[in-house]
Amino acid sequence: MKRKLVSMTLALMMGISLTACGSGGDDKPAADGGNTSTEDQAGDTGAADEGAGDTGAADEGAGDSGSSAEVANKDKPLVWFNRQPSNSSTGELDMTALSFNEDTYYVGFDANQGAELQGTMIKEYIEANIDSIDRNGDGVIGYVLAIGDIGHNDSIARTRGVRKALGTGVEKDGDINSDPVGTNTDGAASAVQDGSIEVNGKTYVVRELASQEMKNSAGATWDAATAGNAIGTWSSSFGDSIDVIASNNDGMGMSMFNAWSKDNKVPTFGYDANSDAVAAIAEGYGGTISQHADVQAYLTLRVLRNALDGVDIDTGIGTADDAGNVLSDDVFVYNEEQRSYYALNVAVTSDNYNDFTDSTKVYEPVSKQLDAGAHPSKKVWLNIYNASDNFLSSTYQPLLQNYDDLMNLEVDYIGGDGQTESNITNRLGNPGQYDAFAINMVKTDNAASYTALLSQ
Ligand code: BGC
Repeated sequence: MKRKLVSMTLALMMGISLTACGSGGDDKPAADGGNTSTEDQAGDTGAADEGAGDTGAADEGAGDSGSSAEVANKDKPLVWFNRQPSNSSTGELDMTALSFNEDTYYVGFDANQGAELQGTMIKEYIEANIDSIDRNGDGVIGYVLAIGDIGHNDSIARTRGVRKALGTGVEKDGDINSDPVGTNTDGAASAVQDGSIEVNGKTYVVRELASQEMKNSAGATWDAATAGNAIGTWSSSFGDSIDVIASNNDGMGMSMFNAWSKDNKVPTFGYDANSDAVAAIAEGYGGTISQHADVQAYLTLRVLRNALDGVDIDTGIGTADDAGNVLSDDVFVYNEEQRSYYALNVAVTSDNYNDFTDSTKVYEPVSKQLDAGAHPSKKVWLNIYNASDNFLSSTYQPLLQNYDDLMNLEVDYIGGDGQTESNITNRLGNPGQYDAFAINMVKTDNAASYTALLSQ
């Protein structure tokens, strides 16, 4: 922390002297032999202070390779990702966890923007295919919905997004009710209502025929196998009425697609843009949403890298770093009050899926290797809450593994069982061995189980 203060003061001083000199100093990129990005933040140190200032700032990042012993665990950089510390019933953010120390952040994506995109994508598909979509011709466009985790704010947002776009949502406590309805073939459920869609002057009824949280008997949520079983049950009792399938993610969506909807030509919509789901669009999968995991995985490691280097947190994010890595503001937003970075979502449909075929490819604007002298190797402890989660294991972790080398981070990947926090926290027995932590909780309420270990 002290180091960071010094660095910020230095940066500030350099900035001031630079302004005073009035010389344009931002054009000194990587060519200066790999000084830390502190300098980039501050401007051109050479000009400002005849080169003498170089060392101070450069040493900030470079000089503390053995620092883990000196820095208390509670002061080490910490990033929460994918599951935002929050109350699982009300969605209220857990600001204690989000501001655990001055180098704590969350990295996720804009859940509401993505949810709206998913709902709109489904609605537009129905409108464009209105002549053929009602398979049994009963005048009701019926859909079923696979819910990931009723206590996960991303899952809640997606359920709301679909219901909002299709007009099936009902209000509860000032927002759209996101409860599962079980079976609702008669349209009598109280958590949803029949919606309507008007196309070419004609009005069609839209009904949520069934929805369920896909949780297996051991307690794992977003469970693809459970979704595959559910579509089996639903289709055998009212398969003719199912015209569309919506799923909170691709793992469950693909399971339903492979079990039933592909053969029955029922458009199925998921979320995540996993490679297998994107490929399935060619075979009738309706579409998916990219949550820009390539940007999220980058941000997850980048905020740690910046904190470890003692540089401005925006380095390599909104401000180009010494290697030229930078993100444009159409792919992420930063909410300072929430200490959260949110990647923005993109709809992936038959129109554009060819651009999304490899979900593990690093995002080109931030794919440049950091100099190992200026950004020396650091050790990171990182967990994936459920080693068999489709999105995290097939998309997110491979991306992290591609970025860790580029950022000179040596990451230990810990895979959880998706059910119990202790299965993961048990493996955080020796935090002193690490320089920074990246945490993906089983339950969004459980941040304290981790911070307690770091505070000991
Ligand atoms: C993804 C899901 C995944 C979940 C895990 C979500 O953002 O869309 O596929 O299961 O994160 O927390």
